[in-house]
Amino acid sequence: MTDIQKRKEEHLNLALDQSHQSKGGEHFDEICFEPLAIPEIDLASVNIETTFLGHQCSAPIIIGAMTGGCDYSDIINKNLAIAAEVCRVPMALGSQRASLELGLPQKIRCWAPSTVLLGNLGGTQLAFGGTDLAKQAIESIEADGLMIHLNPLQELSQPNGDHNWCGVLNAIEKCCSQLNIPILVKEVGVGIGPTAARHLLSTGVEWLETAGFGGTNWTTIELARNNSYREREIMQPFITWGMSTCEVLFELSKLDEPLNLIASGGVRHGLDVARCIRLGAKMAAIAQPFLSPAIDSSSAVVEKIEIVSEQIKRTMFLTGKISLEELKEANLLRPQRLKKL
Ligand SMILES: Cc1cc2nc3c(=O)[nH]c(=O)nc-3n(C[C@H](O)[C@H](O)[C@H](O)COP(=O)(O)O)c2cc1C
Repeated sequence: MTDIQKRKEEHLNLALDQSHQSKGGEHFDEICFEPLAIPEIDLASVNIETTFLGHQCSAPIIIGAMTGGCDYSDIINKNLAIAAEVCRVPMALGSQRASLELGLPQKIRCWAPSTVLLGNLGGTQLAFGGTDLAKQAIESIEADGLMIHLNPLQELSQPNGDHNWCGVLNAIEKCCSQLNIPILVKEVGVGIGPTAARHLLSTGVEWLETAGFGGTNWTTIELARNNSYREREIMQPFITWGMSTCEVLFELSKLDEPLNLIASGGVRHGLDVARCIRLGAKMAAIAQPFLSPAIDSSSAVVEKIEIVSEQIKRTMFLTGKISLEELKEANLLRPQRLKKL
């Protein structure tokens, strides 16, 4: 097993441990819909279909980026991909770096022939490998879009992480201008604030995924793998660094630019997805909650997607909203408190 494969396997095992879930999800609980005692609609007519990258999807849910495939994670990817195909929801791959570096075949397309698939590379890998690396990532899985992940805090916490982030924005800009496929950018649990969002939008990035604080905590995961006492002490104050997913959605909604937003980071059920849509997101990505079902079977993942979808529908029923467009206008309780988030 190579060092990257070993690291990925440790990540999977640590991510399953609930102690690496941040406690910042309370912000989701602050978003309360006004309950509607007379919905005057039939639950069966609630429609949560949506379009993403020009494709019709059954729900505004994306299976969040987790593994790029290789060994153990191949099984996880296979179960996620089969479920994504059955349920007609998009799937984001985890970093393809290991598979590309090791020259491994990426079989994901054969399990998900008609699914919207997003490739994935890290910002610093892109700065190093350039547009050619991006092309390889896209072609190897016939991707519908390429997601670039930005994770400076994770890299600082990781043993031998990348500390040189020069040239990342420029590399993203080149991808946007040279590749004829949408480029999406995400964080991994710290959030993309308004300043970074403005820079990214000016490069031609089409979609931003918030990946805010409140879900999987990559700082504690990396520090659990870091044997240096000194490094662990340096990084201790940064364990709660970041903007919550709700804060990111609020802040970005104030930008003048037209935005395509995917909400993520601590999205744990369909009520959270509905909250994200109400706050301006077009889709919501969920990562860690799909991990355990994916280790089990594709049908366990299907079941999870169906439950989340049903929770979105029931939120809409309880607010009397029949479509996602209508959900965006649902009344919230105590909106003055939300401004303080
Ligand atoms: C096991 C695991 C592996 C991950 N690997 C990647 C990755 O390779 N690339 C990436 O962009 N994000 C990766 N992520 C981050 C997620 O896509 C997501 O941004 C983050 O975990 C927050 O979402 P969550 O709270 O729903 O887990 C990973 C998450 C998990 C749980």
